[in-house]
Amino acid sequence: MKKKLSSYIAGAFIINVFAILSVGGICTLMVKDMVTNIARLEKESGNVSTIYRLNNKIQHAVFMVHNSIVDYDETAENEIMATMAKAEKDLLDYMGSEKSGHNLHTQEEFILLEKLHDNISGIKTLLPEIYRNLTLAEPQDENGFKLLEKYAFHARNLTQSINDVHFKVVSGLVKESYNKMFFILLLYLTCSVVGILASCVGYVVLSRHTIKPIINLATATRRISGGDLGIRVATDSETEIGTLYQSFNAMTEKLQEHQRKREDFNRMLEKLVKERTRELLESNESLSRTQSELVRMEKIATLGQIATSVNHEIKTPLNVLYMNLQLLIRKINQCPMEGDSLKQGMLGLTEIINNEIGRINEIIEEFVKYARFPAPKIKESDINKILTDIAEMVTQNAREADISIDLQLDDNLQTCPVDAKMMIQALLNLCMNAIQAMPYGGSLKIESKKLESCTKISIIDTGQGIEAADLDRIFDPFFTKKDGGLGFGLAIVQRIIEDHRGSISCRSEVEKGTEFTIILPTTTKAICQDII
Ligand SMILES: Nc1ncnc2c1ncn2[C@@H]1O[C@H](COP(=O)(O)OP(=O)(O)OP(=O)(O)O)[C@@H](O)[C@H]1O
Ligand SMILES: [Mg+2]
Repeated sequence: MKKKLSSYIAGAFIINVFAILSVGGICTLMVKDMVTNIARLEKESGNVSTIYRLNNKIQHAVFMVHNSIVDYDETAENEIMATMAKAEKDLLDYMGSEKSGHNLHTQEEFILLEKLHDNISGIKTLLPEIYRNLTLAEPQDENGFKLLEKYAFHARNLTQSINDVHFKVVSGLVKESYNKMFFILLLYLTCSVVGILASCVGYVVLSRHTIKPIINLATATRRISGGDLGIRVATDSETEIGTLYQSFNAMTEKLQEHQRKREDFNRMLEKLVKERTRELLESNESLSRTQSELVRMEKIATLGQIATSVNHEIKTPLNVLYMNLQLLIRKINQCPMEGDSLKQGMLGLTEIINNEIGRINEIIEEFVKYARFPAPKIKESDINKILTDIAEMVTQNAREADISIDLQLDDNLQTCPVDAKMMIQALLNLCMNAIQAMPYGGSLKIESKKLESCTKISIIDTGQGIEAADLDRIFDPFFTKKDGGLGFGLAIVQRIIEDHRGSISCRSEVEKGTEFTIILPTTTKAICQDII
């Protein structure tokens, strides 16, 4: 069950108020008693002075008796009697007031006051007798004086005893007040010590259970604002501070979870964007491939049309030309100009015309062959086997030109979906070009290599090389630098490779050699055009 910090504070407040009220109440009661004691002290001191005054009056009366006797003045009697009457009245008034006060000491005091009253009465009775004796020519009785002295002496003693009773009361009141003041002082000191100790304990408890956890929480909050969401706070407090810590941890947990989700979402977005970009690039490439394929197809179609026209429009008149030339040759031969130099000259010219007609015919046939190139008949074929056959086919030619053949085949090579006949035609073209480029001997390297989902074929020679300016044109139809060359070889090679969804490239250095590289897909879905 959760303990409430507010109930602790309320408890401390109630204890505090209770302590203040208790101590304040006790002190107030004691101060009230002390004030009462002061009033009683005042009254007691008034009583003491009253008793002293009474005694003074008695002693003054006795003193006046003495004086009047010495002066033989019997007229003083009335004045002395009046003084004693006044003293007696004061005493009776005092006794009356003491009786109504119901003080504890009244009993003892009353006995003494009664005795004092008896003394005053005795003096009053004695005085007429003393003054009668004084009027005689020769005073005879001295006992009256002695008795008066005795009364005066007793009166003094009695007043002293009565005041002793009062002094006893005064000292009791003073002692009681002193004790109460001492108790108040003790209470004050105790309360001060207890208060200071309670404040210290309260401060330590408050600091440990409230202030320190709040400081920790403030530090953690600052770290969170700095981006550290992994921070957690711990406390064994079972008060609202504990609840606050739990809420804080739950909040940071949620924040961290949201951050994780956001990061995951960002990563997913990034991945999606990358995928979409890749897809876009791929479709873009595929589009451009399709576009160039379309252009190529259109070119081929146009080429086919041209080839048909050329075949028809040029070959027909060429045949007519050839037939007429044969007729002309026959006629020249039938002419009786044996040994005539004119006849020989004419025959020579017809031979040139015949050769050129044959060459034009050959060009047209090659062109038509190129333009109407058939689609490859794809079949899984062993490329290493094809390359071995090629090497055998060119061995004779190579040997004649003092060329060594280096066949390096990758044993891991897989079969490729190709038209084997067409592939042989293409590779043979490349090997023959290489041999023709090395009229004074050299080396021909035929190499195969397995790539990821593709096969690489290289035909490398150490021949004359190709000038950089010609490299861009070698695959164009009709481009040749050879006497008697038609310039269709590499054009056909490129056509065959591209019809197999492969690619061909050439690197060459004049006087050093040439390297043709072919990349072919090993599956019908593999893409190899961009590898080179
Ligand atoms: N391996 C090579 N080394 C040097 N030059 C080369 C090589 N292969 C091709 N060539 C250059 O490229 C040109 C074009 O070659 P291509 O095979 O298309 O035509 P050709 O060999 O000249 O004639 P043909 O149509 O009879 O093959 C060649 O004339 C030659 O100059
Ligand atoms: Mg050639």
